[in-house]
Amino acid sequence: MAEKEIPFTKEQLTEVIKEYPTPFHIYDEQAIRQNVRNLIKAFAWAPEFKEYFAVKATPNPYILQVLREEGLGADCSSLAELILAEKAGMSGEEIILTSNDTPAIEFKKARELGAIINLDDISHIDYLDKHAGIPDIISFRYNPGPLREGGNSIIGNPEESKYGLTRKQLLDAYRIMKNRGVKRFGLHTMVISNELDPNYFVETANMMFDLINEIYRTLDIKVEFVNFGGGIGIPYRPEQEPVNIMTISQGIKKAYETKIAANGLAPLKIAMECGRMITGPYGYLVSTVLHKKEIYKNYVGLDACMANLMRPALYGAYHHITVLGKEEWPLGYIYDVTGSLCENNDKFAVNRKLPMIDIGDVLVIHDAGAHGHAMGFNYNGKLRSAELMLKHDGSVQLIRRAETIEDYFSTLDFTGLDN
Ligand SMILES: Cc1ncc(COP(=O)(O)O)c(C=O)c1O
Repeated sequence: MAEKEIPFTKEQLTEVIKEYPTPFHIYDEQAIRQNVRNLIKAFAWAPEFKEYFAVKATPNPYILQVLREEGLGADCSSLAELILAEKAGMSGEEIILTSNDTPAIEFKKARELGAIINLDDISHIDYLDKHAGIPDIISFRYNPGPLREGGNSIIGNPEESKYGLTRKQLLDAYRIMKNRGVKRFGLHTMVISNELDPNYFVETANMMFDLINEIYRTLDIKVEFVNFGGGIGIPYRPEQEPVNIMTISQGIKKAYETKIAANGLAPLKIAMECGRMITGPYGYLVSTVLHKKEIYKNYVGLDACMANLMRPALYGAYHHITVLGKEEWPLGYIYDVTGSLCENNDKFAVNRKLPMIDIGDVLVIHDAGAHGHAMGFNYNGKLRSAELMLKHDGSVQLIRRAETIEDYFSTLDFTGLDN
């Protein structure tokens, strides 16, 4: 099986571990920058292209700062994410709020920042009006339901998923907003997650361009931007190929020419809010083997657990594992690679062929740069680990320290019983 590469040598990583004990996440800054440049280049044909990074994927302001320097905006889904984007230097329409079940405080903060608000439901119009006022620009999230096949275990199929407005509601919502004085409109959807087939995104673009035509015909509204959401997959398995972004871009361009430009609806800005494909492949969870256990199966127990990366436990997701320094060794053993939670699904890999593992070996778990650290939690009193950035000059920067026991107790004012 093909090996996946890591951007550091055993000697380099050993030095890093001396300063920052495992487990930790480490992100490759230069690779992230290059990846973003490729994406922007692929859409150079578009009158205006904007990728709003889905902050939820890697909510770290240092990462956001790097992305902002590369020209990205932020897609935020909560108050904390709006503040993160703000702290990373983003402002105004560089930020979009795509939230669910949104509390007033998030709408207020978005309005204060001048961010674009992407409403998830027709009933949110009055709620927004009441709590934050109606802005000049508004976007709606479309859920095609039975009109579109797709979805998967991460996002659910459109008909079953809680997100967005139906087609009828959508047209009503634009009408209401036009009557309330909104001047500028966007249209959003997100119907797939971790999809490797480029055609899927082209089909989504076609669906959205048709809808933009319908909105124009029925309501005389020229939509200013269309946001195809995130969902571009990454090759978690070594035998998988990365999505060809040029195929997506060229397919969308063709649809744009025939459905938008030819109908006098240009210029239409193209937006995306990918998370996973921006940072996912360029982040690694580094962990040390604490124990080996041989019962009915062979286990290796790490100093990390699903609190550091829960995708394998949550979705049965595959994450490739490199045993540092043993890259060339034969894959002669079969292990379950486990974390330390009292949950039997706390496994990074099940029945995985690996080289012989010794206690003290360092395991590098790949593709942990998005929806990895971000999904951390404190179950079993586990502490969230540090995040590091491998800089372009080879140095390593601590971009989030590890939680301490003091952090864990900091929300409690219970000092113990006085006896
Ligand atoms: C609204 C929205 N946009 C964008 C994303 C990012 O998706 P991905 O990281 O798969 O690109 C998500 C993921 O949950 C999302 O819910």
